[in-house]
Amino acid sequence: MTDSQPHSGAGTSRRRLLLGGAAAGVGMAAGVGADRLALAATSPAQPDPVTAEATPDTTGLNGAQTVPFHGRHQAGIATPIAAYAAYVALDLHDDVDRDGLRRLMRILTDDARRLSAGQAALADTEPELAEVTAGLTVTFGFGPGFVTRAGGPMPSWLAPLPAFEIDALDPAWSDGDLLMIVSADDQVTVAHAVRMLMKDSRSFTTPRWRQDGFRRAYGSEVSGTTMRNLFGQVDGTTNPEPGTADFDSVVWSDDGWLAGGTSLALRRIRMNLDTWDEVDPTGRSFSVGRRISDGAPLTGNKEGDLPDFDAKTPAGRTVISPVSHIARSRPEQPHEVIFRRGYNYDLPPDGDGVSESGLIFASFQADVTRQFLPIQQRLADADLLNTWTTPIGSAVFAIPPGCDEGGYIGQTLLG
Ligand code: HEM
Repeated sequence: MTDSQPHSGAGTSRRRLLLGGAAAGVGMAAGVGADRLALAATSPAQPDPVTAEATPDTTGLNGAQTVPFHGRHQAGIATPIAAYAAYVALDLHDDVDRDGLRRLMRILTDDARRLSAGQAALADTEPELAEVTAGLTVTFGFGPGFVTRAGGPMPSWLAPLPAFEIDALDPAWSDGDLLMIVSADDQVTVAHAVRMLMKDSRSFTTPRWRQDGFRRAYGSEVSGTTMRNLFGQVDGTTNPEPGTADFDSVVWSDDGWLAGGTSLALRRIRMNLDTWDEVDPTGRSFSVGRRISDGAPLTGNKEGDLPDFDAKTPAGRTVISPVSHIARSRPEQPHEVIFRRGYNYDLPPDGDGVSESGLIFASFQADVTRQFLPIQQRLADADLLNTWTTPIGSAVFAIPPGCDEGGYIGQTLLG
């Protein structure tokens, strides 16, 4: 227990007392008001204890951070990544037509814009939970079923990915008509936003799946540190940098209703921590082509060093194995670049193992077929990491552009 805990405990009970006093009944309001007036008249220099406690100073609190909802692009893609994310997929009811889609997206956009700004959604039954934004973002995606119902046009890549030999897909983690990605640095914020959005979509949709992911909590590491996945690997080193021209050309589409939007290939990949346990650090590093300890390429000294895929050992083999994960996933053509924004998952195990963990692997790119597929195909054909990983869920979504204050997400398709 730290020194500060008894103090904060005492503060809490004092606050409860004061708020209890202030809220002791509407009938007493006039009396309280009269007391406060009297207090102000007799000792103007004294802070008003009721007001001081009721409006705490949130300056500098991470919970007070907001990410703008409106803009050319939806939030939650190029914006700083939050510690927690819920990916929620919904299926449209059969009777929802194009007008219904428009109504649905207007409602959901309104919820998302309010919640992102720390305001309660309309008919929010727990409005207090909306006050802590903690960088909340809500990002919407449309599956093939949504775009069909809207009457198209359908992007050529908006379909389930081809089947790969490594796949063991479970429909319970795959596909879906409408995706909502809700992320924030606070789990309570995420839970409340998801609940509001689900409540407001339930007369149009049925829940299909939900995947909850996490990274290091805010404040645990210097911000900008590359995440480690649950294998302990530094994961996300070679990735386009938001705000750069490279990022813009990799991620944003300039095609029709999707201009300013992008695509998402979402793979739920189980990572077998129980068999990974049997591998020593040398084997672990060899399988990726980077050192487990610090993420440096096997031919370099620091995480940021460029790998040298031609460097040879004295025995004449390449230092970085041609079937290591980075040798297989690096671009063979200049356009084979994706933006990865993954989260860990960890569920109670249901088999003989002690873990049921993995990666919610999210890849954003302007064109799935051109950019993502060749990489995924190479990894499916050969990748040492496949020894311990299995894709168990898969989905592709079109992520429409953002909207301005008068508009709604999906307007370029439905408007
Ligand atoms: C559980 C599954 C996976 C794990 C644990 C994993 C882990 C890693 C690690 C540790 C790196 C090296 C550091 C870095 O640059 O981020 C990496 C790089 C990379 N991974 Fe994965 N990955 C997985 C699945 C995938 C999938 C499914 C794809 C794409 C289809 C992919 C694409 C890439 C790319 C493009 C790079 C950068 C390659 C380069 O150096 O140019 N990964 N991954």
